[in-house]
Amino acid sequence: MIVAKMTTPPSSKQAAGIEAARHVVDGMKLGLGTGSTVAYFLDALAARMRQEGLSVTGVPTSQQTAAKCRELGIDLTDLETTPELDLVVDGADEVDTDFRLIKGGGGALLREKIVAAAASKVIIIVGANKMVKRLGSTFLLPVEIVPFGYTATRARVSALTEGSAYVRLTEAGEPFVTDNGNFILDCRFPRGIEDPDSLHAALSQVPGVVEVGIFLNLCDLVIEGQDDGTVTTHPRA
Ligand code: A5P
Repeated sequence: MIVAKMTTPPSSKQAAGIEAARHVVDGMKLGLGTGSTVAYFLDALAARMRQEGLSVTGVPTSQQTAAKCRELGIDLTDLETTPELDLVVDGADEVDTDFRLIKGGGGALLREKIVAAAASKVIIIVGANKMVKRLGSTFLLPVEIVPFGYTATRARVSALTEGSAYVRLTEAGEPFVTDNGNFILDCRFPRGIEDPDSLHAALSQVPGVVEVGIFLNLCDLVIEGQDDGTVTTHPRA
């Protein structure tokens, strides 16, 4: 008797991660983003390395990603040794129709932005429901700030974000500390962000702000996983 093997379709995030791994070419210098979608990409990349003998090196954007790469046997480097990258693959919290992003849900926005800026091409991989008409409509905007004087910085950021900037806390109720030793403010926009470019410029001027989770002109292709396990690719015009 032949029993048909039932296979579960990949989740939307997994489908996006698997598809992104197909864009990697032997010898590439990669930027490796952070988050649950990127974890699927790394699994798929490691599978190609095992099956096809693909050889790559990667700059990780977080300690979390570095640890996963070590487990998977993906060679790591840094931007000091490898300042120019062929391709970055990273996730996002929201993507709008102009390919602007909100990132930093995992707190890695600063390194993610530095690494994205060092690459010839950036592929953003997302699961279902992350493409939005207006940034900020479904997700909080993260802003990384230095701990020194953070109450004053929070007040200034709050004044620019409808009074809604809150220090991100751990489950223990302590301020969340990034890999860079900084804090994160999460900013809520009940009606979404009207003008992301202007807000990015204004927040970047606040003393104490290290980086803003709005990514402008840092995305060349979006791979959107769907709930049925298929993917839709959105190239930037
Ligand atoms: C990390 O700081 C973020 O920018 C992530 O890339 C983003 O939060 C997406 O995460 P998931 O892939 O886990 O949804």
